[in-house]
Amino acid sequence: MVVHLNIQVKNYTSYFFHLFPFLFLLFIGCGPARNNEAFKKLSTEEQNKYQKYIIQGRDLYKANCASCHQADGKGLKKLIPPLASSDFLRKNQIESVHLIKNGASESITVNGISYQPTMPAHAHLSNLEIAEIMTYINNSWGNEFGFVDGKKVKKYLK
Ligand code: HEC
Repeated sequence: MVVHLNIQVKNYTSYFFHLFPFLFLLFIGCGPARNNEAFKKLSTEEQNKYQKYIIQGRDLYKANCASCHQADGKGLKKLIPPLASSDFLRKNQIESVHLIKNGASESITVNGISYQPTMPAHAHLSNLEIAEIMTYINNSWGNEFGFVDGKKVKKYLK
């Protein structure tokens, strides 16, 4: 009986180790960066780094941004601009980082629609957290707007 149990435990462990690479690939394969050409061109080291940013960024986005910009990044009609396919975000990475940290100070136009400057500051977010959120919104919902690390955020905020 004891011998039988030992065999069971050993089998489960080996199943796990055999399955692990497949589960890992499935996990990476389902990430927002799946078909992203720029992501494919990064080194493996950078891919691992930004994959982690995207996962962290998604949680931070849900907690700080999704109530307005919505989980699908489409915003709310004429009140809240979209981040998905936003020409503003694509062209104004530095201004977008400022907006996140300091809030809005003037009305801006996104995809031809003008919005009111009602976005609040998120001064509690660290440079790394802003980088994670930027990398997430830059590479979600079909966006391919590039990768942002903490160093870039620090530079942009100067
Ligand atoms: C209370 C609602 C609200 C919250 C919360 C909010 N935003 Fe905004 N956001 C807005 C509004 C309104 C604008 C338009 C600001 C303007 O006209 O100056 C905007 C503009 C933007 C823009 C530039 C325009 C665009 O659509 O590309 C970005 C990027 C952005 N927000 C990202 C974020 C991120 C990231 C967070 C979370 C850290 C966030 N916002 C949280 C309401 C919000």
